[in-house]
Amino acid sequence: MKPAMTGRVLALAALLGAPAQAQDASYARGLAATCFTCHGTDGQSVGGIPPSLAGQDRAYLLQQMMEFKAGKRPATIMHQHAKGYTDEQLALIAGYFAGIKSAPAAAAPAARGGY
Ligand code: HEC
Repeated sequence: MKPAMTGRVLALAALLGAPAQAQDASYARGLAATCFTCHGTDGQSVGGIPPSLAGQDRAYLLQQMMEFKAGKRPATIMHQHAKGYTDEQLALIAGYFAGIKSAPAAAAPAARGGY
């Protein structure tokens, strides 16, 4: 009796949880899609200019976006882009790009000498 109950509760939790997660993921991709124009589809830029975002560290990406937004990191265009998003949206975008695995090794900040 008890295992069956647990199973039902888990199934219900999965039903309730799954659509919300799927929604979040497509919302994040929708936000990130505005970056594809310059940073390449799914953040994999051709030739690394501007840098690939795919597979970069989530915390690093978020930090860069926050610094662009605050005007702390000099930029030609990114400071304007970053201002268009709430901190929560930037976190979703950072999570989206960090979750893409097939980034070329050249995307790693250390490999480029960093900022
Ligand atoms: C109009 C072209 C353009 C668009 C659109 C654009 N970027 Fe950028 N991005 C750049 C350029 C150019 C740089 C290099 C810094 C600069 O000059 O602004 C850059 C740099 C960055 C960096 C720093 C990368 C690193 O490795 O340090 C991050 C992070 C970033 N962009 C994220 C984003 C995100 C997220 C979006 C979408 C919300 C986005 N960019 C949209 C052109 C763009």
